[in-house]
Amino acid sequence: MTEHPSASGFKTSLLEEADGPAHNPTANPTMGEIIAMRFSRRGLLKGALAVSAISATVAPAALLTAERARAAGASAFSFSEVEAGVDDNHHVAEGYDADVLLRWGDPLFPDAPEFDPNAQTAEKQARQFGYNNDYVGYIPLPDAENPTEHGLLVVNHEYTNEHLMFPGIVTIVEGKAEIAPADKARIDIEMAAHGGTVAEIRKVGGKWQLVKESPYNRRITAGTEMELTGPAAGSDRLKTAADPSGKKVFGTVNNCAGGVTPWGTYIMAEENFHGYFLGELPAGHREAANYERLGVPDGTYEWGNFYDRFDVSKEPNEPNRFGWIVEVDPFDANSVPKKRTALGRVKHEGAESIVAKDGRVVFYLGDDERFDYVYKFVTAGTFDPNNRAANMNLLDEGTLYVARFDADGSIAWLPLVHGQGPLTAENGFADQGDVVIETRRAADLLGATKMDRPEDVQPNASNGKVYVMLTNNTRRKAEQVDAANPRAENAFGHIIEITEADGDFAASRGTWEVMLKCGDPSVAEVGSTFSTETSKNGWFGMPDNCAIDAAGRLWVSTDGNSPSGTGRTDGLWAVDTEGEARATSRLFYRVPVGAELCGPVFAPDDQSLFVAVQHPGDGGDDWEPFGRQSYYEDLSTRWPDFRDDMPTRPSVVAITRQGGGKVGA
Ligand code: FEO
Ligand code: CA
Ligand code: CA
Repeated sequence: MTEHPSASGFKTSLLEEADGPAHNPTANPTMGEIIAMRFSRRGLLKGALAVSAISATVAPAALLTAERARAAGASAFSFSEVEAGVDDNHHVAEGYDADVLLRWGDPLFPDAPEFDPNAQTAEKQARQFGYNNDYVGYIPLPDAENPTEHGLLVVNHEYTNEHLMFPGIVTIVEGKAEIAPADKARIDIEMAAHGGTVAEIRKVGGKWQLVKESPYNRRITAGTEMELTGPAAGSDRLKTAADPSGKKVFGTVNNCAGGVTPWGTYIMAEENFHGYFLGELPAGHREAANYERLGVPDGTYEWGNFYDRFDVSKEPNEPNRFGWIVEVDPFDANSVPKKRTALGRVKHEGAESIVAKDGRVVFYLGDDERFDYVYKFVTAGTFDPNNRAANMNLLDEGTLYVARFDADGSIAWLPLVHGQGPLTAENGFADQGDVVIETRRAADLLGATKMDRPEDVQPNASNGKVYVMLTNNTRRKAEQVDAANPRAENAFGHIIEITEADGDFAASRGTWEVMLKCGDPSVAEVGSTFSTETSKNGWFGMPDNCAIDAAGRLWVSTDGNSPSGTGRTDGLWAVDTEGEARATSRLFYRVPVGAELCGPVFAPDDQSLFVAVQHPGDGGDDWEPFGRQSYYEDLSTRWPDFRDDMPTRPSVVAITRQGGGKVGA
């Protein structure tokens, strides 16, 4: 939800927000007026530049707050927070190092070419780190001497920002930015920059580095061969001219958040796949209602001009082969990724999992669109910690549930099972394959609760809770407010905490409460519920991704804080969830102007934290050879290289404590 000060009509942050059929990219005016009462643009800019000069220092007010919290024994965190603001660099709390580990274009193999933004090719890109890193997972190497300092980093590459990637493709026509139509070579680079990366990394002398010679290093792209498994595999609705079996598909797109399973596989969630399809569905086609519910086709990308399968007039079933949860075995670089259809087909944000009391495995799933749903999947089989091979197809059988949040504080997980309730042939569901292909329509019929854009949903083993990030929904009208989505024109989002019945993550009932309504607590009209211990730096809007560290503490990264909106960049906030400090938050790390922050994940010893800085420099209005890296006339960035001949580069950053120790302790 990046807000763009430019008057340009050009689509930036192309698929950043789930763009449904009635998408409205502008911030809600009412909330904008509220913010304007507080921040004038010039005043804000001066403040932002002032912050840039003192960025590494700690605000006295923040110290006071931290000391008071500590004195009360309330907060689980003790670091000194970063000052919120806006400038061209990233900033981490005092006493920590934030080191760029992997940048877009970095070679991943000994024979991979160095990055040259003026001579990029698809072949090179397929051997280099991809664009717009989102989900980050850490999988310890079981045979390593120290698996918490030597493992596999798995990273999603969600989408591409052409105007930031390719030099010379933007022209200004009558004050508006226009991007040149793509040729096939550019499309092929875009496709190779999507997908995911598996990279062996190791901490040497306290610093993380890539192991280029690793047999595990791998790029997955929009062209990688994959297998469709589970109830929809082989369905007529998944068959195409290229794949009469309905079980084989090439590529994965818009891999947003994800997960790592208890058996050490890597999950990539396919989110805004509608943007990759163009053309017109043949009249009367049976998928018309299905596609309309998902906003397919959207035509953001031009791939369909060169590849028929992305044009629904030519290959009408291809969109049914996207929108799934993808599972990758990162320990075999030649393994065929599996699209696990049992987990449903929606705009999947991620799939974080936990082993339930009886050994079944529970995956929590958000469908990131305004007024869409929260799901969970419970495997039929149980996890065997002593036999990895026995777990490798657990995701093919189980029960998919959708959440109904009732006003009395209870939650019901409603099973999406063919033949039960309305999920029958009379309603167009011939079998379970149809139920998962049209997951949203099935959930509509069950009466699921329409949420304010569900992003990460994270179970916490240490207290039995589940946290749901609801990023925002400025289109919720007053008459659409409900207990679980309590604010109309919800510009800043909220966090719900679920407690499953009897502490059983596989339960079909539980309770819930709104843990935090986000936004500036000093502006009464916002209705924020950050605790009074939260400093002016500590509040945030638009929760997106989150992580639970080994100590069970919650860390939230954001997407959509901006100079003109909240007067701060996105970042990572540590949020207390227990005791007197509950709903107290403090800023640990913040990104350069124009970026959002994704993928927070901790190494198992909590001594390393990995974060993904996505689309740095996006959303400005000063056009440079590689697109717009400027935000306002006097604030720009070329992070992380700060070279005039290099574009901004989305990067994974490794954060460690100077001298060693746990992060945020
Ligand atoms: Fe790709 Fe819902 O964020
Ligand atoms: Ca996200
Ligand atoms: Ca996002």
